[in-house]
Amino acid sequence: MQSRGIFITLEGLDGAGKSTHLTWLTRYLGDHGIDHLETREPGGTPLGEKLRELLLHETMHLETEALLMFAARREHLAQVIEPALEAGRWVICDRFTDASFAYQGGGRKLAQDKLYSLEAWVQGRKTGILQPDLTLLFDVPLAVSRARLANGRELDKFEREHDEFFERVRDAYHARAKASNGRMVIVDATRDLPAIRDDLRQILDRYVNGIATPAQS
Ligand code: TYD
Repeated sequence: MQSRGIFITLEGLDGAGKSTHLTWLTRYLGDHGIDHLETREPGGTPLGEKLRELLLHETMHLETEALLMFAARREHLAQVIEPALEAGRWVICDRFTDASFAYQGGGRKLAQDKLYSLEAWVQGRKTGILQPDLTLLFDVPLAVSRARLANGRELDKFEREHDEFFERVRDAYHARAKASNGRMVIVDATRDLPAIRDDLRQILDRYVNGIATPAQS
């Protein structure tokens, strides 16, 4: 029987360098002959991309925002993520539920129990709550994130938030990482690219060589 693919998510503050690392990561997997799919949240499906437009540009009640994030996620899991994993493909997703805990929970102060309920609803399976096998949290202090964002392009609704919002987002990511039983690995993304890539290579080699196996089968 085809073994299940590995589900990897990338997280971090806006400006932490996720996109650069994502490009490197997918090339690394390609070089190792690993069939993989690159996707993102909010988004990843035609409906999800429409919801992304609303989420990134329209002002809305914080609970509406959380519900739409998870609605897009439900569609993404059903249409893209789960079929790919079942077919043995690896899925590399730019943000997932940890971002909801960080931005809606930490940033917007939405009650954690509501997020846990949504997580259980959307990711609940007979075998438990479907979680990524590995989450790379690209960590930078706020000042670094801010400096990298100030590159002239137009900022979205989240990127325009104030400093305290992002301090809470970062704290919430750290709290989530601490409670993740090793699923989330914090990568110090203030270092230069070769140093970060050495770390990533070490972490990923364990999965590529089959030492670490998928969390859900
Ligand atoms: P991002 O992928 O960083 O967009 P880009 O790199 O194109 O700027 O993320 C979009 C924004 O969505 C980001 O600011 C965080 C936010 N977000 C949430 O608030 N909650 C979520 O659950 C997710 C997945 C993203």
